[in-house]
Amino acid sequence: MKRKWWHDKVAYQIYPKSFLDSNGDGIGDLRGIISKLDYLKDLGIDIIWLSPIYRSPFVDQGYDISDYYKIAEEFGTMEEFDELLAETKKRGMYVLMDLVVNHCSDQHEWFQKALEDPDGEYAGYFHFVKGKDGKEPSNYRSYFGGSAWERVPGTDKYYLHMFAKEQPDLNWENPRLREEIYKMINWWLEKGLAGFRIDAIINIKKDLSFPSFEPDGPDGLASCVKMVEEVQGVGAYFEDMKKNTFEKYDAFTVAEVFNMKEDELAEFIGDDGHFSSMFDFSAHELTQGTHGWYDCRPLNFNEWRDVIFASQKKVQGIGFEANIIENHDEPRGVSRFLPEYAQNEAGAKMLATTSLLLYGIPFIYQGQEIGMTNCRRTDISEYDDISTKDQYREALRAGCTTEQAMECCYENSRDNARTPMQWSGGANGGFTEGTPWLAMNPNYRDINVAEQEKREDSVLSYYKKLIALKKSPEYKETLTYGRFVADCEESGCIFAYHRVSEENGQDILVAANYGTETCAVPLKGKMVKVLLSNAGKEELHEKEGRDKGKITLESCQAAVILLES
Ligand code: GLC
Ligand code: CA
Repeated sequence: MKRKWWHDKVAYQIYPKSFLDSNGDGIGDLRGIISKLDYLKDLGIDIIWLSPIYRSPFVDQGYDISDYYKIAEEFGTMEEFDELLAETKKRGMYVLMDLVVNHCSDQHEWFQKALEDPDGEYAGYFHFVKGKDGKEPSNYRSYFGGSAWERVPGTDKYYLHMFAKEQPDLNWENPRLREEIYKMINWWLEKGLAGFRIDAIINIKKDLSFPSFEPDGPDGLASCVKMVEEVQGVGAYFEDMKKNTFEKYDAFTVAEVFNMKEDELAEFIGDDGHFSSMFDFSAHELTQGTHGWYDCRPLNFNEWRDVIFASQKKVQGIGFEANIIENHDEPRGVSRFLPEYAQNEAGAKMLATTSLLLYGIPFIYQGQEIGMTNCRRTDISEYDDISTKDQYREALRAGCTTEQAMECCYENSRDNARTPMQWSGGANGGFTEGTPWLAMNPNYRDINVAEQEKREDSVLSYYKKLIALKKSPEYKETLTYGRFVADCEESGCIFAYHRVSEENGQDILVAANYGTETCAVPLKGKMVKVLLSNAGKEELHEKEGRDKGKITLESCQAAVILLES
């Protein structure tokens, strides 16, 4: 495997709207981000991914772009963006933008022109398709619910939108559209971006015959995912895009890919893959329901650990996946992956330990580093997210009570991760001097940066130590390129693996006890040193002296141990 400049980096996702508001309008902004670059640097972050900051009507929180060349007024100006780039560069940091090119906003000039002239040039930038028998061209359900087709006013045509109807899908078959997109990507790369996180990209290839599928829900529709799964040839688009853009700049790209076909990993993220990396969503897909949030499955420790292990075994030697605990589309990891008894600081540190030292590049999501949690709401009107509203309706339609439907939202809502960043215990968690665009999680009084900065044993302090260990000169080689070797796979509570370097012979054991009882972990080699633990590092040394050949971990205890090689 070729070594790449970004392999040993740690990345951090910023959701700009909820990061830090500098002017009291209740909306996070670029000025807010600039003021926290030292905070991120101090945490150990190298790469920052900004969720969309382009001009947008914010129907899907910026994932509906109306001008790819403009910064949303809510967030600031292009001058401020340039300043952000310059300030990151000064600190040796890199910036990724979100690249949303499966669709744009219905307010984009292209779409407006297409509506004006539904047989003209710009209609060819979208999928304008004649209806069948006076109905939609096919029975696709969009990702946000309802038909994926919307009538083009005054015609017998429909346009395709796999997400909201305000997010018309772009037609990648059209070379002129592709050219426009490449031009735009290069324009940003010329500015000095390090690369992109690439949104929903697997969806860009459509089967232009738009076949209908067997309905899979009571609405008589079939998920548009079916078409994505069946259509062949999306890779040719990825290659074309890469050759015309990213490759020329040695840019880093991390793709959001669900529904990849079997055995395509090397094509996607191998040495000369379509992308640098892609997110490992295996843990996040595990509990997904067949119909929606209302029938999602409870998390089982063994299944969870095993899908992560399976991903690790599959990817190593081929490429680097991006490992996440949460992002702006997922509930908070500490509320989701930790059993109730572990939903505390020890648990948050344990989850960080087992996740950040996996093989791959870690992406930390804002607030994760202080252990931010899901947020309970009492009424659906308190949610903003378009997908949450749809899932709430679905739950009610399936016969859930209001309480049950609200519980589904509490567990799954994308807004769980979108509540503003908790900087302090003061008014609005120090996020804004105005009224936050989305209500704070009230637990900011207990969980916040200012309080954790003061405390050596806080989650935040632990994240710093963990990242520092990962990047330390002594262990960086092993913790970046060392082979992943699973351990204790028979255990029902231990999450353990090794990173073993072929370069320097080091063997580092990462072990954590997710159970309620104290548990022993057999050691495959003699312990040289405890590199990090979320509790009782010294004690582990002593115990090792007593119980040769094993270490004993308390409930929620995690340890990183250098073994004799
Ligand atoms: C991706 C984004 C999500 C957005 C969707 C449509 O999944 O992460 O937030 O709603 O694409 O752009
Ligand atoms: Ca603001």
